[in-house]
Amino acid sequence: MIELSHLSKTFTAPDKKVVALEDVNIRVDAGQIYGIVGYSGAGKSTLVRCINLLEKPDAGTVHVDGFGGIEMRKGRPFYLPEDGGSAVPLTEKHLKTLRRDLGMIFQHFNLLDRSTVFENVAYPLRHTGRSRDEIRTRVLELLDLVDLREKVNAYPSELSGGQKQRVAIARALANNPRILLSDEATSALDPDATEAILRLLKDLNRKLNLTIVLITHEMAVVKTICDRVAVMEEGRVVEEGDVYSVFSEPKQAITKKFVQTSSGMGQIETLIRANSSILSRGDTLIQCTFSKDSVGEALVSDVSRRFGVNMNIILGNVELLHGNPLGGLVVLVGGEPEKRAAAIAYLRDHDVRVEVIEHG
Ligand SMILES: Nc1ncnc2c1ncn2[C@@H]1O[C@H](COP(=O)(O)OP(=O)(O)OP(=O)(O)O)[C@@H](O)[C@H]1O
Ligand SMILES: [Mg+2]
Repeated sequence: MIELSHLSKTFTAPDKKVVALEDVNIRVDAGQIYGIVGYSGAGKSTLVRCINLLEKPDAGTVHVDGFGGIEMRKGRPFYLPEDGGSAVPLTEKHLKTLRRDLGMIFQHFNLLDRSTVFENVAYPLRHTGRSRDEIRTRVLELLDLVDLREKVNAYPSELSGGQKQRVAIARALANNPRILLSDEATSALDPDATEAILRLLKDLNRKLNLTIVLITHEMAVVKTICDRVAVMEEGRVVEEGDVYSVFSEPKQAITKKFVQTSSGMGQIETLIRANSSILSRGDTLIQCTFSKDSVGEALVSDVSRRFGVNMNIILGNVELLHGNPLGGLVVLVGGEPEKRAAAIAYLRDHDVRVEVIEHG
């Protein structure tokens, strides 16, 4: 388990200050895949870099089960032993122990260009007291794990983006970390390679019970493999929850925007713009989001009969998220104003989130 409490970090440039983290609190349970999303500059990288202390927070505590805690006191890091012993100033040795538990992969792979795949993966195994044979065995084992054994003697320049990322993942896992920190691991990859890497991460999560903290700016990635998600904006976590709840009931404007981009429902604005005659007088255009308690189109036809309104479905999208149906429909509701209002109220009563997009 990782627990970040009251983390803050401000970067001070000569001419200005940037608040990169402001009182961030997050808890990641063992075995979870935890997503962190946000726009560029939201503080995501700073946040994960604070977990392994590549970045030193100004204030707050980082706790990692099995290691202990690091607490910033007046800008200086102290180590808090797990057994509740008294705090001591953090040493290089503490840091080394912490980082052994935390593998990290980066957006741009960070491979050694002049070294082969073998040497890249072997790199973190040097100076760990292993013999040459042990290192060889471990490297081959890791390459099998990421399905890249046949490239053992290749150089990074001879690999595709997805293959480079596999090497980076193998390297990050070399010392059997319990936690993997992944900073935009798929953003440089095409959709097929992205899917393959996500499948690999999910596989590793299951096989090794690896906890993964995964930064991304794509909700589709969160939807594919995360259990929980935190949404960051301007250094703060503005929304947090299990993936299904966040997708079915986003609360903050920024979360709604993120969710829309990944559901295809974002197309509605394009549709309205391209087709301004879609809405005639006396119509209300609504967007309905169904969650597991209320599934879709049957309800729409029921409402239509019950209230004598026309319910014209113009865009629909239903998918399974963690085994539960999550659906959206854009519906043109036609009829007398009171009837339209009653129909919408009825839908809301039946656990459908209804947003009125426009009145004609
Ligand atoms: N070393 C640094 N010195 C000064 N400012 C920094 C430094 N690192 C980050 N920042 C600033 O802190 C803020 C948060 O940066 P961060 O890299 O954490 O964002 P991010 O969410 O990872 O963005 P992206 O999606 O573009 O990677 C930004 O405004 C950035 O300019
Ligand atoms: Mg970043």
